[in-house]
Amino acid sequence: MPVATTSFLFCVCQTGAEGAIAEELAGSRPTLRRAFARPGLITFKDTAGEVAPDLRLGAVFVRAFGASIGPVADMAGLVAAVRRFCPEGQAVRLHVWERDVSRPGEEPPGHQYGVQAAEVRARIEAVWDETGRELLPGARAEHGDWVLDVIVANDEPWWLGYHLHGPEHGAWPGGRIAVEMPPEAPSRAYRKLEEGLIWSGAPLRAGDVAVEIGSSPGGASYALLRRGVEVHGVDPAKMAPVVLDYHKDQPGNHFVHLHRPMSLVQRSDLPPVLHWVLLDVNLAPQVALIAARRLAARPRGALMGVLLTLKLDDWKAIRHIPRFLNSVSAMGMVEVKATQLPSNRMEVFVCGLTEKGKARLQEPKQEPKQEPKQEGEQDEQKMKPAPKRAKKQKVKPAN
Ligand SMILES: C[S@@+](CC[C@H](N)C(=O)[O-])C[C@H]1O[C@@H](n2cnc3c(N)ncnc32)[C@H](O)[C@@H]1O
Repeated sequence: MPVATTSFLFCVCQTGAEGAIAEELAGSRPTLRRAFARPGLITFKDTAGEVAPDLRLGAVFVRAFGASIGPVADMAGLVAAVRRFCPEGQAVRLHVWERDVSRPGEEPPGHQYGVQAAEVRARIEAVWDETGRELLPGARAEHGDWVLDVIVANDEPWWLGYHLHGPEHGAWPGGRIAVEMPPEAPSRAYRKLEEGLIWSGAPLRAGDVAVEIGSSPGGASYALLRRGVEVHGVDPAKMAPVVLDYHKDQPGNHFVHLHRPMSLVQRSDLPPVLHWVLLDVNLAPQVALIAARRLAARPRGALMGVLLTLKLDDWKAIRHIPRFLNSVSAMGMVEVKATQLPSNRMEVFVCGLTEKGKARLQEPKQEPKQEPKQEGEQDEQKMKPAPKRAKKQKVKPAN
């Protein structure tokens, strides 16, 4: 039987960002028409025809996307959908995740993402043999995997889709990078930065030197310190003791506080060899970018890149994003990418790499000093072993 295709696209995002995605895609993909939306999920019909599973979307506010199969009422519906849409002989990577229940950081007390998804995943695994396809063990997608997306939300029917895993897709279900935050971390910014480092693959290493503009109370600085980075933090507000005391009276990387606003920091206040410029200030991006540019601008022979959190006034600010990214390029960054991370609120994360930073990507990877745990890894531990060791079959993505 020929494999079925769909002309629908699903996009998963932060709750409230659905309209922003429609606006973002209106310019780049004029053949899309809005079809259906729920908080954190929006679908489109492509009037030009089939949505290719290896589609490149290039949308900042989209966390996960793919060809949309639509809702299924029960397990029989899921099995039938796999048989219709997944080519025979094709091994499948299963991604099951929950739509966001609230804005990041505003989840009801005790809420934990992943519990419902793990239960649904186990039920699907129990009947998987009925699909007649091999199930790849584990949740972490690899390049070329045919991924079945199963989006769950309370009592609603599961929403199904599929995609071929490639550079625009997160390796973990739904693009959600769950970072375990140590209890002593001074702020959520710990999680934001770890997510950003994992998402971007920024080649940050132990022994690097970073400046962080807007460093108080210190979540991001603490994440950097734990990765072995020396941090110079610029902020008129106080830093948490856990940051100030890091490696106190011991050899190793330290934190240095430039206890003043960024306008009062001169380039000469910073170490001559600087690998990273980070920024997370509650100021308009236009203002923040000028400061980052002043500190990152040439000559900075060792600079690997910039990692910036830009605050947006509202969703309408998305129209300024191309301009923001141009100004990051103008800092000497040869590769610039942006996304709204799972724990970003009304903000976006931008990673820019210099020629040197890009070259470092080609070097053998150094293990981070502290390896953050990811949601998929936890899932895999909970998951029972796959029924049989599936042989992975790759589908070659089209260009
Ligand atoms: C979102 S918080 C930063 C969180 C921090 N990165 C962390 O990891 O905990 C924004 C910070 O920007 C700082 N800030 C605001 N205006 C600033 C300025 N002109 N210069 C330096 N820092 C500034 C604030 O004091 C505040 O601590």
